[in-house]
Amino acid sequence: MIITVSRKASFNAAHRLHVKAWSDEQNKTFFGLCNNANYHGHNYQLIVSLTGEVDPVTGYLMDMKSLGEIIRIEIEERFDHRNLNLDTEEFRELNPTAEHIAVVIWGLLRKKIKEEIKLKVTLYETERNFVEYTGGA
Ligand code: NI
Repeated sequence: MIITVSRKASFNAAHRLHVKAWSDEQNKTFFGLCNNANYHGHNYQLIVSLTGEVDPVTGYLMDMKSLGEIIRIEIEERFDHRNLNLDTEEFRELNPTAEHIAVVIWGLLRKKIKEEIKLKVTLYETERNFVEYTGGA
């Protein structure tokens, strides 16, 4: 029996979208308010979805308490109340768009979850804008 289980989490973080190779004018035109030199914040909502076989003995795909711990340690403690551009290794050189943040989160979680379980990350940057990543190029 293949099933998908999901867990929600959230973190608050600041960022600035900026392409170093572009002029200030190009950046401002393309990224608009998200290029604000003094950064701005988002309340990111994260949904981590796991798909795989339910264990016939326990009836679990994965213990949600341990998934919650992994998300807390790997994602919330790393990014919550941080300036993504300045305070994190991951986005020192990588533009912290929702797309890139989702890919980075996926990579951090992938290492901690059993290989046979499929992983999908859904990241809401605003109520209306969200991205999904399931791995791959
Ligand atoms: Ni933004």
